[in-house]
Amino acid sequence: MSASDPANATPPPKSNAAWGGRFDRGPAEIMETINASIGFDHRLYAEDIAGSKAHCRMLVEQGILTQADGFAIETGLDRVAVEIADGSLVFKTEREDIHMNIEARLAELIGPVAGRLHTARSRNDQVAVDFKLWLRNAIKQIDRDIQRLQAALIDQAEAHAATILPGLTHLQAAQPVTFGHHLLAYVEMLGRDRGRLADCRKRLNENPLGSAALAGTPYPIDRDLTTKLLGFDRPTANSLDAVSDRDFALEFLGAASILAMHLSRFAEEIVLWVSDRYQFIKLSDAFTTGSSIMPQKRNPDAAELMRAKSGRVIGAQMGLLIALKGLPLAYSKDMQEDKEPVFLTVDTLALCLAAATGMVQDFQVQPDAMLAAAQTGFLTATDLADHLVMDLDLPFREAHHVTGKLVRLAEERGVALSALDLASMQKIEPRLTSAVFDVLTVEGSVQRRKSYGGTAPERVREAVAASRKRFL
Ligand code: ARG
Repeated sequence: MSASDPANATPPPKSNAAWGGRFDRGPAEIMETINASIGFDHRLYAEDIAGSKAHCRMLVEQGILTQADGFAIETGLDRVAVEIADGSLVFKTEREDIHMNIEARLAELIGPVAGRLHTARSRNDQVAVDFKLWLRNAIKQIDRDIQRLQAALIDQAEAHAATILPGLTHLQAAQPVTFGHHLLAYVEMLGRDRGRLADCRKRLNENPLGSAALAGTPYPIDRDLTTKLLGFDRPTANSLDAVSDRDFALEFLGAASILAMHLSRFAEEIVLWVSDRYQFIKLSDAFTTGSSIMPQKRNPDAAELMRAKSGRVIGAQMGLLIALKGLPLAYSKDMQEDKEPVFLTVDTLALCLAAATGMVQDFQVQPDAMLAAAQTGFLTATDLADHLVMDLDLPFREAHHVTGKLVRLAEERGVALSALDLASMQKIEPRLTSAVFDVLTVEGSVQRRKSYGGTAPERVREAVAASRKRFL
């Protein structure tokens, strides 16, 4: 007996039912493995069925399918949807992707008439439709999650409109700010994130269905009807573009990367604030973990992971950009690689936004620690310089110089500016009076910063109200 003995050979796998007409045998196992997308694109099943039902209804309306066939297909698709939802349908790798798994199951349920559904379309326009519909929903969900985080931030901002902490530049003590003002900075960032996502949603909402494989179709289809049925704004204008465009996924990943970067910056602040050095906020047991070796530990793992996970999102954007660059028109299988980065990004953002919201609702602010920190580092030095300008009419540059000398004196003596005696101050600038002490408090400093968009508690309270109107 030899391996070439026909009696010994394993029977060749059957060719693919959907496209195997000119194939004698099926693909190698590894071909099937690399080719299949069902492992992830099963997440598109509801959208695939919605797209198929709209397509089917349009084919009937246009007289391309009979009413009876259309009815059989639509009811069959509904049954497939139920089987997928309840987990009874087992997907098969040899059926490659969600589109062919659904179509094959439809054929098992309703017979050969299932084969009429694919009239006047291709998987190329089909997958573009599915993916857009899926992403549209995902964007809606992410928008809600961002809004929830904004609401939590605004509530804390309101509670801490007058809570003072050191404002930093270069991570160095700069000027006193209010914690509410600091939190509202993130509300603004998140507002822009929502704007970018809404913009992406608006631009993606064109219907590729009817572009078929790449060139359009000879059947008398009605693209406006499927557009209406699927809630798109208009049909795509160019079939080649429609089946090979993944700008919407890239735009989403771009907006998502910026959002993830914001969440990462916020996470870093939380890590700093809960650290032993700062102790500006406390996280409860619900949002901290212990150490298996150091019993005193309370670690902000959720914040650290939120900081780190931005890397995945940014990586997803890079990965897809690189996969798409250099692709000629129209569809290439490379495009199948579009889904995983988007799914991963949507999942990561949902997780991080929920964790961020949980932490903001959970954290207890420690106003005393914040205030104590604001009292060191000469944070009111700018106020002193402003006083020299506004009340003693010095040019700002000179005022800056004088203040520098006063700070140096305080530093040498190891005291705060407000602890310097007037006589010593007057040696540096004779025009100073005891009024100087009024400008040296951190409370006065924040209260004076009343310019629109400034940190004064009264401005923060207005900004809280305005933010509720704009965002919630
Ligand atoms: N699974 C494929 C994808 O996600 C569907 C489109 C396949 N088209 C094709 N011409 N092979 O891109």
